[in-house]
Amino acid sequence: MAQRARFCVLGAAALALAVCACSEPQPSADAGGGAPAANRAGETAPVVADEEINLDLWLERLEVGSRELYSAREAVVEAVGLETGQWVADIGSGTGLYTLLFAEKVGAEGQVFAEDIEPLFLDLVTRRAADADLTNISAVLGREDDVTLPNESIDVVFIADTYHYFDDREAVMRSVYRALKPGGALVMVEFDIAQGEERPDYKSHVRFGKDAVISELEFVGFEFVGETAVNGLDENYFVRFAKPADSE
Ligand SMILES: C[S@@+](CC[C@H](N)C(=O)[O-])C[C@H]1O[C@@H](n2cnc3c(N)ncnc32)[C@H](O)[C@@H]1O
Repeated sequence: MAQRARFCVLGAAALALAVCACSEPQPSADAGGGAPAANRAGETAPVVADEEINLDLWLERLEVGSRELYSAREAVVEAVGLETGQWVADIGSGTGLYTLLFAEKVGAEGQVFAEDIEPLFLDLVTRRAADADLTNISAVLGREDDVTLPNESIDVVFIADTYHYFDDREAVMRSVYRALKPGGALVMVEFDIAQGEERPDYKSHVRFGKDAVISELEFVGFEFVGETAVNGLDENYFVRFAKPADSE
């Protein structure tokens, strides 16, 4: 009960995120709010015209040397430790920065599911995959509260700079838990904030730090495996969890 209260308290903060000013462009509020256009991995989501999303702007913001998740991307991918043939889900895949790198790592026998609630991002990732001749990437249009991936299908789930956007983190993470194979891994990369820290504008929208995230994920059933120090990540932490191998 106490743990549930923790989710609720943070949930209120998350609600504030939806309306807070943020240095990053925000996806449209209703993106993905209805029934999923694709609810089986492997289906490519149709594109819905959405004039609020400026893909060029997002590319400039997310794939720029001053963003450490971009400049340290090779080290991050190395730390994830993917193996050939694995099925990976990049939740909140955005412009596909990590999706494309993961696709090269798992090779043609593997699969990478780029999941997002914004169809225009998925369209961009699909085009970038085709341009790069990568045939092992599938776009999955999720819902705000569900990643809509098949149960026990995924070896590794990766969530970068996205957890703090979830309005209902418990529901999303329960759907991630279901999608992972028993023994599967969850890797999360997030901005850290210290208690009482005066935050610069670009992370003013992040309302909770690493310890709160670990508590929330343990509550859902994940085992905390540990934190990895990744070269080039200073403001973000990299943590790994597992779905217990004997989970039902
Ligand atoms: C700051 S971007 C991060 C993109 C990418 N992970 C990266 O690090 O470059 C956050 C992404 O989360 C997505 N997002 C927000 N809420 C989501 C949800 N409930 N489920 C899936 N994706 C979500 C947004 O559409 C956006 O693409």
